[in-house]
Amino acid sequence: MGKITLGPMPYMSVMPTLLVGANVKGKPNYMTAAWATVACMAPPMVCVAINKARYTAKGIEENKTFSLNVPSSEQVVETDHCGLVSGGLEDKSGVFSSFYGKLKTAPLATECPVNIECKLFKTVDCGSHRLYIGTIEEIHADNACVTAGRPDITKINPIIYAQATYFDVGKKVDSAFSAGKNYKKK
Ligand SMILES: Cc1cc2nc3c(=O)[nH]c(=O)nc-3n(C[C@H](O)[C@H](O)[C@H](O)COP(=O)(O)O)c2cc1C
Repeated sequence: MGKITLGPMPYMSVMPTLLVGANVKGKPNYMTAAWATVACMAPPMVCVAINKARYTAKGIEENKTFSLNVPSSEQVVETDHCGLVSGGLEDKSGVFSSFYGKLKTAPLATECPVNIECKLFKTVDCGSHRLYIGTIEEIHADNACVTAGRPDITKINPIIYAQATYFDVGKKVDSAFSAGKNYKKK
């Protein structure tokens, strides 16, 4: 099996499909983002890479707060819409209904089963994109999507992003922090 080189590009095997919420000029705005992940365990932090031209970036800079909202597959049309249209050109405040939690300035999308409230911790200027790192202040979740105090992937039905395509979550392969116990040294 030969390897070929593909050149440097912003690649990751699979990504989440999220909605970044930020108030811009006092109005909620949501943009679709796939370039996001956990950044730290203690304190709990997440990060998202946002192009400098995005309307959402203005809101994060303005309030130093933002949210990451986890849409379910049933919200794929609204979610993709927020990735096609800029709040600078069209008002997206009505695409999802908003509520506010502890931070008061980070809009949370009611229809999304999980909402992560973040206080801006640090901004890293990477080039075309800024990496916004946020401390998680609170997680809101639909009661029906929680099992044993944690968001449950089988109930949320989140949207996976890869190769310009949205996917559902596939079947379980094995248990993490456990499957490796069956490893046998050669
Ligand atoms: C599936 C998908 C994922 C996206 N991921 C990102 C991302 O991680 N970072 C980013 O800056 N833009 C991303 N975009 C593009 C923005 O969502 C898009 O430019 C949006 O219109 C920006 O909205 P705003 O100007 O209201 O902030 C993505 C778009 C889609 C459809």
